Amino acid sequence: MKLRRGIFFAALAPIVLILVGIGGLLFLLQRGFAPMQVPRIAAVTTPINADVVEHGRYLSRIGNCGICHTTRGGAAFAGGRAFDTPYGTVYSTNLTPDQRTGLGDWSLEEFRHVLRNGVSRHGFLYPVFPFENFSKLVDADIDALFAYLRSVPSVDAPARANALEFPESRRGAILLWRMFNYRPQKFIADAAQSAAWNRGRYLVDALGHCAFCHSTRGPLASLPASGYLAGGVIPVQGWYAPALDDTSLTRFSIDELAEFLRAGTSTHGAAYGPMAEVVLNGLQYLTAEDAIATATYLKSIRVAKNPPAEIRKTEHDLGMNAGDGLALYEKNCADCHGKDGRGKENIYPPLRDAVSVLASDPTNALRLVLYGGVAPTTELNPRPYSMPPFAQQLSSTDVVAILNYVRQQWGNRSAPLTPADVVRMQGIVLD
Ligand code: HEC
Ligand code: HEC
Ligand code: HEC
Repeated sequence: MKLRRGIFFAALAPIVLILVGIGGLLFLLQRGFAPMQVPRIAAVTTPINADVVEHGRYLSRIGNCGICHTTRGGAAFAGGRAFDTPYGTVYSTNLTPDQRTGLGDWSLEEFRHVLRNGVSRHGFLYPVFPFENFSKLVDADIDALFAYLRSVPSVDAPARANALEFPESRRGAILLWRMFNYRPQKFIADAAQSAAWNRGRYLVDALGHCAFCHSTRGPLASLPASGYLAGGVIPVQGWYAPALDDTSLTRFSIDELAEFLRAGTSTHGAAYGPMAEVVLNGLQYLTAEDAIATATYLKSIRVAKNPPAEIRKTEHDLGMNAGDGLALYEKNCADCHGKDGRGKENIYPPLRDAVSVLASDPTNALRLVLYGGVAPTTELNPRPYSMPPFAQQLSSTDVVAILNYVRQQWGNRSAPLTPADVVRMQGIVLD
């Protein structure tokens, strides 16, 4: 008996050792104990430098700090915006200088640590906060962000309790996520590339966290599952953020792409949904040089590693709905988008070659037809045109007929949709 037990443990021991070894290695890869050592030193008041504060405001806009840390109609940076995830709801926190509920008693060291490591005095932070991207920020930028947040009006707004399922409700569980996913990297400029390209990569990867939406999430909300900036569905919100690379963006020149980022509209399409919000509150403030830098970098991304799987043009004959589709399109859509699908320059986007129409993921096109859309109001596009919602006027079959017509016209060749695709939209959270 004893001997058998001995053999059992002898056999088990190496397995346990291997598991402990792998666990230890993963723990070290998320930087071991260092992220948990949150510096808690007294905040010192430093003299306010107006230029640094102004620079911080700029960075905060491009980094979307205000979008995520403000509720609709609520006080700026007071937190409380809800983020629906597959595991429940996480609320953002108060970033104003309030002593009790905000960052009032935070030192610069603590702020730097939190942006780099995603661990604060409250414990591990949920990856709804893009700290993996922000870990690439340079010190001067983090310091400017802090100076700016120090200058916004103080608001007493205690954090709202998150509503998450177990085990995600325990902050300790995030350690497991970190062990598999959190691999912080410093931003290292590529000497072989131009200054504009490097600036663009910094804006895209660090501050702008574009991959946060423009990549597919894998198991446990890890990023990226499909390839870097290869496009992806934003969980729960039900919007599709297309791939950002030279293939997907081929219809834009660098100048046109830079204009799209700042204006929210262009001859090749308008920004809508979450992208309209990103442009409205952030990218429209990009300096002309930073917009060109971002476009230069995006247009340099080659897709050898990123097959644009979402653009799947399939040969398919028009099927029996085509007649209805044509008549319904001319009645409901052609006034704005044109009989030829070319739209009206900078007013109504073209549907010919539009990503939302070509994408095998029909979410964006369906959503716009059902619920409408407004391009962002920007300095370069002060009076944006909008698209009316059709959910009340058109049946699911009509919507499918119109979209299948559009998906097969003017050289577009996308696989047909079915009414089930429309029904699936009904579970989507509208914001
Ligand atoms: C995509 C949304 C999003 C963006 C963008 C974002 N945050 Fe947050 N942030 C959150 C959420 C949600 C939390 C709360 C996470 C949690 O409770 O685990 C958070 C937490 C934080 C915390 C920790 C606060 C605490 O008390 O523990 C700080 C500091 C912070 N964010 C600063 C920033 C700054 C600065 C920016 C811009 C550079 C920014 N955030 C951009 C969503 C966001
Ligand atoms: C909150 C999520 C989110 C973030 C963050 C985000 N995007 Fe988007 N983006 C979207 C969605 C959704 C779309 C599809 C709707 C549209 O075309 O406007 C989109 C569309 C775009 C398009 C149009 C692509 C095309 O082929 O028509 C470009 C270009 C773009 N984003 C660039 C960026 C850049 C650059 C960043 C980072 C600085 C960024 N986005 C950050 C969600 C996001
Ligand atoms: C009153 C003018 C108007 C009408 C009518 C209209 N649209 Fe639109 N459409 C727009 C505008 C403006 C946008 C850009 C919306 C935004 O940026 O939020 C748009 C955007 C779109 C897009 C996204 C294009 C892209 O760049 O990816 C699709 C798809 C679309 N419309 C399809 C339709 C269909 C199908 C119909 C008819 C059922 C229709 N529209 C009727 C004005 C209109």
